[in-house]
Amino acid sequence: MTPTWVQLAYLVAALCFVLALKGLSTPRYARAGNLLGAAGMALAVITAFVHGAVNNGLLILLAVAAGVVVAIPAARSVKMTAIPQMVALFNGVGGAAAALVALTEFLAVPDGSVLFEVFTVLTVLIGSVSFSGSVVTFLKLQEIMTPRPVLLPAGQVVGIGVAAASALLALSVVLTGSGPLLVLLAVAGLALGVLFVLPVGGADVPIAISLLNAFTGLAVAASGYVLANTLLIVAGTLVGASGTILTRLMAAAMGRPLTNILFGAFQTTTAIAHSDEQRTVRSGTVEDVAILLGYAHSVLVVPGYGLAVAQGQHAARELAQLLEQRGITVDYGIHPVAGRMPGHMNVLLAEADVPYENLKELDDVNPGMGSVDVVLVVGANDVVNPGARDEPSSPIYGMPIFDVDKAKAVVFMKRSMRPGFAGVDNSLLYNPKTTMLFGDAKESLTKLLAAVKQV
Ligand code: TAP
Repeated sequence: MTPTWVQLAYLVAALCFVLALKGLSTPRYARAGNLLGAAGMALAVITAFVHGAVNNGLLILLAVAAGVVVAIPAARSVKMTAIPQMVALFNGVGGAAAALVALTEFLAVPDGSVLFEVFTVLTVLIGSVSFSGSVVTFLKLQEIMTPRPVLLPAGQVVGIGVAAASALLALSVVLTGSGPLLVLLAVAGLALGVLFVLPVGGADVPIAISLLNAFTGLAVAASGYVLANTLLIVAGTLVGASGTILTRLMAAAMGRPLTNILFGAFQTTTAIAHSDEQRTVRSGTVEDVAILLGYAHSVLVVPGYGLAVAQGQHAARELAQLLEQRGITVDYGIHPVAGRMPGHMNVLLAEADVPYENLKELDDVNPGMGSVDVVLVVGANDVVNPGARDEPSSPIYGMPIFDVDKAKAVVFMKRSMRPGFAGVDNSLLYNPKTTMLFGDAKESLTKLLAAVKQV
């Protein structure tokens, strides 16, 4: 029987987790939510340790110390653009931990009841899938392996075969209580995770990460039944539910069904094949753009992944402030999948103290786009690609976009004519109302700031 003080401590920790999620849903309270979640987790770990320290206390402390030594420097030094792959790694480790704990519990102190076996099997299978799948997404995003879809010969048949074998193994473990079969199930789960993620490529990898995150939540919740620990059930369910919601939101923001994202890999090569030869590109100087801005009454900044790479958020903010001082209205158009992770642009701009009320969503901006004088597209590409709206053959057809082609003038700040993450050609780059300001976003913004001061 769990002592009352432990149950109470777990209840407080569970409340912290729920309130943390609530806080994380608004930029204003996100930091407080994060801290609250961390405090809840600390309380949970300390309670579990004090309550169960009799067994292997020293080993647990050593494991915690190893985790701290690896995770704190990793989290502090990671570049913001590399956070998705770090999340993938941390998530994978969570899945592996749940699977290993359930496996060890099963082998060391088998309970014998069918329910215990069912939840052990679920934890081991889902945790293994989550671990190996997350490692592959990490390798893809870190470009240690190709980020493109990898289609193995007869990959689908092999995948279905491994999934069927896993189901059979799971059933056998429940019926026989066999430890070796459970280990085999873990191996099958690892293979399944790899086969699941290999065909996902390009812009879809972050969605696979979010889904695997939901899987880890489920594995942790199932391990809560194995260990008879209510807090694990609560925390795992919260992660599972929020991961599922996030996955669905991201799929909706890209305008594609989840099944298509996971099983209908982007075919990027054909999409880039437009010929540039007949199309002209209008390239301008910072002085040209400064003059354009000098005549503007309203400006929309659409930031994207390139702004994060260039770390140009402070320069963007300074430019916006200067324009505002001259009576020009400046808004920021924040696309839900701009950058490489949910909320990427919000976090980036918050770092530069851009007021939240200036951040506008698609529906706030698109209806009035025709009256915007200048759109500055800074390191963004796919999220303003009219092909997503107009070309049913485009791989990103259906993704909601900022209709910046309807504004009076568009300036693209990027380094080249290369496409964005989806690898899809963007006709807006060749539109007569578009001016290309080639170069690193931060450098261009800084030079533009100086040029605007001269106008
Ligand atoms: P992208 O379409 O990826 O375009 C980014 C652009 O930034 C590139 O065209 C690149 O052009 C430019 N760039 C890179 N480094 C730069 C630098 N230092 N200075 C200036 N420009 C630079 O970005 P986006 O419009 O933000 O779209 C995001 C993409 O990621 C979408 O396809 C979306 O579906 C996908 N995605 C996002 C998420 C989330 S949750 N955010 C999740 C899944 C998928 P150059 O190389 O020519 O400079």
